[in-house]
Amino acid sequence: MRIDVVSLFPEFIAQCAAFGVVGRAGERGLLSLHGWNPRDHAEGNYRRVDDRPFGGGPGMVMLIDPLRACLRAVRAADPRPARVIYMSPQGRPLDQAKVRELAACERFVLLCGRYEGVDERLLQAEVDEELSIGDYVLSGGELAAAVVVDAVARLQDGALNDAESAVQDSFEDGLLDCPHYTRPVEHELGTVPEVLMSGNHARIARWRRMQSLGRTWLRRPDLVDEAALTPADRALLEEWKAGPEGVRVLPDGRAGEPPEQAE
Ligand code: ADE
Repeated sequence: MRIDVVSLFPEFIAQCAAFGVVGRAGERGLLSLHGWNPRDHAEGNYRRVDDRPFGGGPGMVMLIDPLRACLRAVRAADPRPARVIYMSPQGRPLDQAKVRELAACERFVLLCGRYEGVDERLLQAEVDEELSIGDYVLSGGELAAAVVVDAVARLQDGALNDAESAVQDSFEDGLLDCPHYTRPVEHELGTVPEVLMSGNHARIARWRRMQSLGRTWLRRPDLVDEAALTPADRALLEEWKAGPEGVRVLPDGRAGEPPEQAE
């Protein structure tokens, strides 16, 4: 697949994409990532890309024309149609379902804003959707774009070494991941749960599922719709709540029921 990133700092994205799973996906030809700088499409000696906002106020707003010319060049670089996604805190929150949808696209464009934002007319004319990576404000869309690139790259077939690990990830089935352990078995910080060394794959899978259910119920109750769980999952969750694994201590040390869900 191909991802084009439009940014005043395209080197930033290139750096993020040079390592780990994303780097490997690039080397294996599973993902081609292209950075584009709207400044290269700006006119005049100063190659201006921004100006003061009408109506006053702090900060600068990115100009229409350099971005439009840049996007035109991006589209022309590959015949496949590309949807344009603007990274913005006003966007729809990114989740794993969205990541899966994007990972199945042949091509898309990520537009990163800087300063106070982008002229609204450019967004109206050129952008198909806006995506946010969370309810906080970054100083530009680059980190958010890097998040999208990483999450999408690791879902490309062949990007991960163990084909299983994407399936087992948190959120792939709507639940948080189970805990993981490695050597040594005995450590002053604790002992590895016995079941993981039993060699009994069915028992291990059952234990992991129970851990996922219990953790999700405890830490992210908003993700657990108990009614929608299968009867087997519901039974596992009840077992987790009742059993020694279900010690109800929240990560911040509070004991008790999971926090009330926000309305
Ligand atoms: N740009 C600035 N803040 C952002 C956020 N939270 N998500 C996506 N893009 C952004």
